[in-house]
Amino acid sequence: MSPELLERYSSALGQHLGAPCEETLSAAYELGRALMSEGHGLMDLSALHHHALGQLLARGQLDPSKVEAAQAFFSEVSSVFEMAHRGYREANESLKARNAELEQAKEAVEATSRELEAFSYSVSHDLRAPLRSIDGFSQALEEDNGPQLDDIGKGHLKRVRDAARRMTMLIDDLLRLARISRGELTKEIVDLAPIVKTVVERLRRGDPSRQVELVVPHSLMARGDPRLLGVALENLLSNAWKFTSKQPRARIEVGMLPAGHVYFVRDDGAGFDMKFVDRLFSAFQRLHTQSEFEGTGVGLATVQRIVRRHGGRIWAEGAVGRGATFYFTLGE
Ligand SMILES: Nc1ncnc2c1ncn2[C@@H]1O[C@H](COP(=O)(O)OP(=O)(O)OP(=O)(O)O)[C@@H](O)[C@H]1O
Ligand SMILES: [Mg+2]
Repeated sequence: MSPELLERYSSALGQHLGAPCEETLSAAYELGRALMSEGHGLMDLSALHHHALGQLLARGQLDPSKVEAAQAFFSEVSSVFEMAHRGYREANESLKARNAELEQAKEAVEATSRELEAFSYSVSHDLRAPLRSIDGFSQALEEDNGPQLDDIGKGHLKRVRDAARRMTMLIDDLLRLARISRGELTKEIVDLAPIVKTVVERLRRGDPSRQVELVVPHSLMARGDPRLLGVALENLLSNAWKFTSKQPRARIEVGMLPAGHVYFVRDDGAGFDMKFVDRLFSAFQRLHTQSEFEGTGVGLATVQRIVRRHGGRIWAEGAVGRGATFYFTLGE
């Protein structure tokens, strides 16, 4: 404790003991405020008071009749600490109450989302049976009665079958999407580079005539669920592959930003209009028509779910005709 501080305290206390009044008490209060803002605690204050009393006693300025007044001075200085303490306690209690409310709200949202999930899962499931029957009977009609149908009839039947097939695809994708949110998530250290290479190899085998250069670092370490990260990369790379398919040569690059922990998948394909970037990650939203590029529009919704389950974030940049880049993080 500094001598100046001790001097300040004993001088204020001495004045109070000499002639206790509102003014000397208010000086005590100010002193308490100053002590607290300088970072002193109650223990410091008690030591300071003890020393100051000793000093006054040695100077003959303290006689037994003034003990009460000294106590009143101490109470006034320490009242600042008492009030601060009460304030902390109240703030703490209100924080606790807020936390409990937030926790409740979070549980309610999670319960609703689980219900919705279960609902969409069972609806999708139940839609399959009638759909199978539409597909099966229209196939039977085509096989058994095809020759009797005229061209218009054949055209209609083909449309029925195409629509049934597309709906089957949509439902299967929806079920797959629901499954992503349900399975267990295990986080481990994974090298994404070999996963990327395997996926692109598979895409090449499906379309060997294409000229696509793949750029990927030797290793690309991440922490996450290997299976889910595989699904995410599969979707991002299939998109890169698909949306570059109209050009003779293409380049797909996968890597991490220099600042670290932001992964990206970049292509120099068809790109998209940034005006609609918000729609990209919603299920069944597509920025290209079926005749331009085929798809159901659940790939990116799946990737977003996977990234979010990891506690990460996904976003995209693109320009029409100038390619697209998808960035994602994987949380802690
Ligand atoms: N690499 C990309 N370049 C340009 N546009 C893209 C790219 N990736 C996605 N998009 C746009 O975002 C839309 C949604 O992508 P998403 O992967 O969800 O669906 P999809 O590829 O059309 O169908 P699915 O993945 O279900 O087969 C795409 O239809 C396309 O308009
Ligand atoms: Mg896709």
